Amino acid sequence: MKKIFNIGTLALCTGLFIASCGNSDQNSSSTVDHSNHTTETPAETAPAPETSTPATSNSVTVESNDQMQFNVNEIKVKAAEPVSLTLKHVGKMGKEVMGHNLVVLKQGTDVAKFTEAAMKAQDTEYIPGTADVIAHTKLIGGGEESKIDFKLEPGTYDFICSFPGHSSLMKGKIIAE
Ligand code: CO
Repeated sequence: MKKIFNIGTLALCTGLFIASCGNSDQNSSSTVDHSNHTTETPAETAPAPETSTPATSNSVTVESNDQMQFNVNEIKVKAAEPVSLTLKHVGKMGKEVMGHNLVVLKQGTDVAKFTEAAMKAQDTEYIPGTADVIAHTKLIGGGEESKIDFKLEPGTYDFICSFPGHSSLMKGKIIAE
């Protein structure tokens, strides 16, 4: 119970931090992040249309932010070919309060159970010593990024941020086909 209470407190503090951050940041030159999330130049394929059906690509960039969100909830990759995934934290908050990672889970993983185990794995940056992980990025804070390489058999896989309390919002599916 004590753990749960602590997480509630952390979430509350986080909320307050965002509020105060918004007010004190007016003079900072780096508050324009909202407009630059599409500046990435597409490599060899045509620009992906802004629909719920993402283009299939094995070179994936996922953004995470200070609002505890990933910018995608579905990723499509080609199965049985190497996937290179970069997680970026486009926010400003440190990894102690708004840390993000991206954990790709094996099919059939009980996500709720995994999340529970992850909460207790602070020493290993919320990656528990279970056999459920296919690949995971490092835990990162604002301005940082982390890249991973992995390969998937055809199927649908869950991905989450395993930072305590984040996976309810920070989750999605990787479809390998
Ligand atoms: Co997170």
